[in-house]
Amino acid sequence: MEHGGSRVLTYPAPVTSYSLRNASPAKSRADAVVVGVVTGSSGPAIAPGGQDVAKAYGRKLAPLLSALGVTGKPGETVKVPTSGTIGSPMLVLVGLGKDPDHLAVRRAAGNAARSVTNAASVAIALPADTPELVRAATEGYALGSYSFTTYKASGPSTSPGEVVVLSSVARKKDAIAAFEEGKVIAGAVARTRDFVNTPPNDLRPPGFADAIAEIVKERGRGGKVTIQVLDETQLAELGCGGLLGVGSASDAPPRLVTLTYTPKGAKRHLALVGKGITFDSGGLSIKPAASMHEMKSDMAGAAAVVSATFAIADLGLPVQVTTYAALAENMLGGSAMRPGDVITIHGGTTVEVLNTDAEGRLVLADALVMATEQKPDAILDVATLTGAMVVALGDKISGVMGGDDVVADVLSASATAGEDFWPMPIPEQMSERIHTTKIADLSQHDWIRWGGGLFAAAFLREFTAGLPWAHLDIAGPSFNSGGPAGHVSSGGTGVAVSTLVEFARAFADDK
Ligand code: BES
Ligand code: MN
Ligand code: ZN
Repeated sequence: MEHGGSRVLTYPAPVTSYSLRNASPAKSRADAVVVGVVTGSSGPAIAPGGQDVAKAYGRKLAPLLSALGVTGKPGETVKVPTSGTIGSPMLVLVGLGKDPDHLAVRRAAGNAARSVTNAASVAIALPADTPELVRAATEGYALGSYSFTTYKASGPSTSPGEVVVLSSVARKKDAIAAFEEGKVIAGAVARTRDFVNTPPNDLRPPGFADAIAEIVKERGRGGKVTIQVLDETQLAELGCGGLLGVGSASDAPPRLVTLTYTPKGAKRHLALVGKGITFDSGGLSIKPAASMHEMKSDMAGAAAVVSATFAIADLGLPVQVTTYAALAENMLGGSAMRPGDVITIHGGTTVEVLNTDAEGRLVLADALVMATEQKPDAILDVATLTGAMVVALGDKISGVMGGDDVVADVLSASATAGEDFWPMPIPEQMSERIHTTKIADLSQHDWIRWGGGLFAAAFLREFTAGLPWAHLDIAGPSFNSGGPAGHVSSGGTGVAVSTLVEFARAFADDK
C-alpha cells in the first residue's frame, strides 16, 4: 500500500479455460449444463442450442418447468438436479425472454455464470448458431464470472476450471474468430474493472503508469504495443498546465502515458484519450462526503482506452492506434489549484479555472492537444466527465458528442458491442458560454448548471484542432453502485472497452 507497506499491483490470472465445441448438451459430462428458456406464446420453451436436453426430458419437461415456476423471463435462473436424465448432474435454466438476440444471450450467460457456484466444468448450450451469438455466450459467461477478490482473505475459487461453449458452427472459421474475440474482449473488460476497483490509495498516477508499463513488459515484443511515460518534470517542459494544475496538491505527481500500436499495412490512424483521475476529491471545490469514495472510479476512461489498445493489438486489427492516458490525483492542500487560477494548456491556450471539481476537462485538454500533434484520422476521448450526463441519461447509458460522422460510427460500434450510448448535442450556445471569461482564452466553468455535460464537450472540442472527434461521457455506466446484473458486475464495469474495439475494427476497414 502506498501509505505503509507497498502492494504491487498485480492481479491473479484467470483460472478458467474456454473451448468451443460442436457436441450434444444431453451427452455432456460437465458438472453443469446451461440451457436457455424463451417465453413462447404457449408457455416457456427450451431455446435453440438446448433441444437435445428437451428431447431427453421428453414429455416430462413441460410439467417440470411448470412445477419449478420457470417462465423464461430475462434475469431468471433455476438450477435443477437431472437425476440421470442427461449426462450432466445439474441443469441451469436461464431466462432469455422472447426472440433472444446477442444482447439477451450475453446477459443470460452472465446470469448463468453467477448462479454456477460449485462446478469444476460447465457446458454452455445457449443459442450459438451464428458467430455473433458465439461471441455473446463466451463473453457474457466470462464477464459474469468476474470477481474482485484482491482485498479479501482468500477462500476457495468458485470459478470453474473448464467452460465449453457448444455451437453447431463450432468448426467454422468465423465462429472460431468470434469465440477468440469474446475471450479477448472479456479479458480487456476484466482488466479495466480491476483497475477501477483498486482502492485509490493503491492506484495513484505513478503506480498506475507503472502497472501499465508492467503489462507492456510482460507482453514483450510480440505484444506489439510500446509505451512512453512522461513524468512531472517532462510535463512541465511540455507546458502541460492542465495535468500539473489538477495534480498540484497530490504528493503522487501526474503522469501522461502514451501507448502505440503500429501494425504493418495500417491505412488509418486512431487516437484514444482517457481521463485518469485516480481520485477526485473535487480539490478546493470539495465534493460532499457521502459518495466521495466512488470517485476512485474517476480513472475509468483511462483504464478503458488502455485495455482497449491491448485488445486491438491482440486481435491484430490493421489500424494504427496511439493512446493517451492522462493521470492525476485531484486533492487539496497548500499547493492546490485555486478557483480563479489561470492555467496554460499544452500548446498555449489559457483557461480560467472557476471550479476545481471540473478537473477532467483540464487533463484531457493537454492530452487532446498531444494527440492532435500526431495528426490522427480521428480522436475518441473517454471520460467520467460530468454528473450532468448521469442526470440526463441515467447510470446505464453513456453520452456521445462530437462530429456527426464520428458520433454515428461510435453508435454503430456500440450496437455491435452491446453497450448503450446515446447522442447528445453541442449547442451553439455552449460555444458562447466557454468564452465568457474576461481574462483568459477559455472559461473552464460558468456556474450555470443546465447542460453541464454539453458545456464540457464544447470545451474539449477547442483542443481537437478541427480533427474528426467524439467525446464519450461514461460518468454513469462506468461504476455500478448496485448489485450485479447480467454480464455487468458490481463496481467497475469496464464500459466503453468493447465499443472502442468495434470502432477500431470498422475504422480499419473503412478506407
Ligand atoms: N468525476 C466527476 C464527474 C462524475 C460524477 C463522475 C458522477 C461519476 C459520477 C467530475 O470531475 C466532476 O466533478 N464534475 C462536476 C463538474 C461540475 C463542477 C461542472 C459535476 O458533474 O458535478
Ligand atoms: Mn471533479
Ligand atoms: Zn472527475
